[in-house]
Order: sequence, then structure tokens, then C-alpha cells
Amino acid sequence: MEFLVKHTDEDTLYKLVLGLIVPRPIGWVSTISKEGITNIAPFSFFNAVNDAPPVLMLSISNRDDNTLKDTVRNILDTKEFVINMVSEELFEKMLITAEEFPPDISEFEKAGLTPEESKMVKAPRIKEAKVSFECKLYKYVPVYDMHVIFGEALLIKVNDDILTENFKVDYESYKPIGRLGGNYYAKVYGNCQIKRC
Ligand SMILES: Cc1cc2nc3c(=O)[nH]c(=O)nc-3n(C[C@H](O)[C@H](O)[C@H](O)COP(=O)(O)O)c2cc1C
Repeated sequence: MEFLVKHTDEDTLYKLVLGLIVPRPIGWVSTISKEGITNIAPFSFFNAVNDAPPVLMLSISNRDDNTLKDTVRNILDTKEFVINMVSEELFEKMLITAEEFPPDISEFEKAGLTPEESKMVKAPRIKEAKVSFECKLYKYVPVYDMHVIFGEALLIKVNDDILTENFKVDYESYKPIGRLGGNYYAKVYGNCQIKRC
């Protein structure tokens, strides 16, 4: 099958892009508003675009009523945020943080997560996350209806137990999850790994 994009409806394109470009890592973003309310939300249009210094990218839509999501508003207001990574045991909590709560309600409380003071930015890290990137806004680029946010990491927190010798990552301890299409998620450890000879 081939899909000529200009003749394909938006719903089908959404399903194709989400279902085919997989697995996507999940950037679990914690921010703080100008008013001091903390916020968390997951985003799978997320990746790294530079390593030294690390520059990470998120692409965030508007809500259905066309208003800004709290994450975008907080990042544009404060120019700072933290991207935490989701491990398997945090999966259910991550799903809670994807629900739409009013801006005066913190997802830390709703999901039972602990805010941990960041060293380089005001936004707190998620203490339970094994990896967190403290970022300052590097660039903001609107792409069609999406808000594309580039963040430069100033500090990377990594739990000691997921790093082995020479900073290699132990995926059995890390247990990161990836997003597939629909309600499916991928595990990336154990027998699922393919090693290049
Ligand atoms: C695993 C997962 C990945 C998601 N990825 C995105 C994404 O890449 N872009 C986006 O706009 N929304 C994405 N969402 C939806 C947002 O998390 C959701 O709209 C959230 O309520 C936004 O919260 P906020 O208003 O606190 O920023 C995703 C949801 C889940 C569960």
C-alpha cells in the first residue's frame, strides 16, 4: 500500500506515524509554572538531537480545545524543564500524569510521585525516575500545529545501579519502556536485545 499524503485524512496519518515510527522513547517532562505549581506529562515525540552538549527535542500538540498544554506554557514562561525517563515500574504512574488535570493541580500529587530539587533549574526532577536531564530551553520552533521544543541539558542524573564499567548502561536495571501505536508499549531489555557481531 502507498499513501499519498495530500490525499490521506489526518486520522489515518496519525495512526500511520504513531504505529510505524516505533519504538519511541518517552520524555517524561516535569516543569513548574510562573505561579509555582509543578506539572508532569509524558511525550513520545521525543528524542536526542545532539550529544555534546546533549540537546533533546519534544514535539507537543495543543489540547483539543486548541489551548496550550501546561508543559508548553510552563516551558515558554520559565525557559526551563526536566526530562525524566520512564522505567517499567513507573508505567502506571506515567499514565496518570498523561491525564488532563487543571493547571492548579500537580501531577506529582495525583500520581504519588516525589519532587526532587534540581541542581541547575527550578523545575523539580521526578525522584523515582532513574534518569533525569535538567534542561534549559535552547530553541522553540512551531511546526504546523506542533510546538517543537529543544532543550539543552545542563545536568544528567543517573542512578548508580544502572551504570556498569566505563559508563555502559545495564538495561536489566534500567528497564526503559518505549511507545508503540495504540495502547501498546515496548520493553527494551533481556532477550529482546539484538547484539551486532
Ligand atoms: C506515552 C504517551 C506519550 C505521549 N506523547 C505525546 C506527544 O509526543 N505529544 C503530545 O502533544 N502529547 C503526547 N501525549 C499526551 C500528553 O501527555 C497529554 O496531552 C498531557 O495531558 C499533557 O499534559 P500537560 O497539559 O500537563 O502538559 C502522550 C501521552 C502518553 C501516555
